[in-house]
Amino acid sequence: MKKVVLAFSGGLDTSVCIKLLEENYEMEVITACVDVGQPQEEIERPTAVAYKMGALKHYTIDAKEEFAEEFVFRAIKANAIYEGYPLSTALARPLIAMKIVELAKKEGADAIAHGCTGKGNDQFRFEAIIRAMSDVDVIAPIRDLNLTRSEEIDYAEDHGIPLPSDKQYSIDENLWGRSIEGDILEDPMTETPEEAFNWTRSTDDALDEAQILEIEFEKGIPVGLNNEKMEPLDLIGKCNQIAGLNGIGRIDIIEDRIIGLKSRENYEVPAAILLITAHKALEQLTLTRSELKFASYVTEVYSELIYDGLWHDPLREDLDALTDNMQKRVTGTVKVRLHKGNLRILGRKSPYSLYSEETVSFEDKGMDQREMTGMVKNYGIQAASYNKICKKD
Ligand code: ARG
Repeated sequence: MKKVVLAFSGGLDTSVCIKLLEENYEMEVITACVDVGQPQEEIERPTAVAYKMGALKHYTIDAKEEFAEEFVFRAIKANAIYEGYPLSTALARPLIAMKIVELAKKEGADAIAHGCTGKGNDQFRFEAIIRAMSDVDVIAPIRDLNLTRSEEIDYAEDHGIPLPSDKQYSIDENLWGRSIEGDILEDPMTETPEEAFNWTRSTDDALDEAQILEIEFEKGIPVGLNNEKMEPLDLIGKCNQIAGLNGIGRIDIIEDRIIGLKSRENYEVPAAILLITAHKALEQLTLTRSELKFASYVTEVYSELIYDGLWHDPLREDLDALTDNMQKRVTGTVKVRLHKGNLRILGRKSPYSLYSEETVSFEDKGMDQREMTGMVKNYGIQAASYNKICKKD
């Protein structure tokens, strides 16, 4: 019998896939769950489901640190936000796919399977990586059989497949964010019910007292909180917790998928909002005007590449190299205030600050104001000509 490695999260789609791969494709299934910081029960559940459903073997692959250091940190340096969505699901997909390819090679598998539907983005992200790194077949049972979510639920019930308790929504979680879609949320006029959220408090229920936080960055990467150095996973976890308690990080948008479908997406991304906002505040202090302008273009192109699953595009590496060079000076501390859904920058400092309090001050006499007279006089020369010549009557 041929062997297939299934990227397995234990959610509805992938749980249904185990049985489909056995029954419809007659393959032996090895399941693998890549840990990118989803909650502990999302690691334990797939293990139990895999064995219950008769998987040949099940692997849990811990990729949390690699995800934080090699993916999340790049996203912070590039302020990676696509159409208002601080990339989280999209950011983890390449790493998950890479780990699955490694395992498939180790196991000598004939194919790799995933549970993506034919309507979303993840099919592109998984398959682009798999094809870039190997020559095995790719199988997408849900897409092949054109299954709807309720057909999957019926199939699961008929085949005794245990389903997650919150199967109402389609949820994806990793340490950088939680995305929620499907069911009643598909109507963009329906308000997202409170029970859909898990990482963030509503503005009403957020902590009453404001929290002040000092975030320390080194070369564009967060390294400490309130004067205490922290390891990446602890720091991101703490930021998620503090910002979430203060009602920060809920995003409800209409987003453009790769295939052109518009979709309504809800995200909980408290640490991402906090750290990217603070990072941008430090960039304002340390980068030049032209660098800032270029960096915002880089953000746009970089985010689109990540969203589109093109991790292996050389442009992504080019942009990372450029960003790393710019970020050498993005070192310093940002002080923020979090309160009831509001995030306010209170202060920032850096040894590489380009801001000169002395020169900009209204009290300074060193920079002689009179020297500006000639420069100002001829400023806007083209606009003046246009106004005088072309708009005469
Ligand atoms: N729209 C987001 C993206 O493409 C999130 C998709 C997450 N999937 C889910 N089942 N909620 O990155």
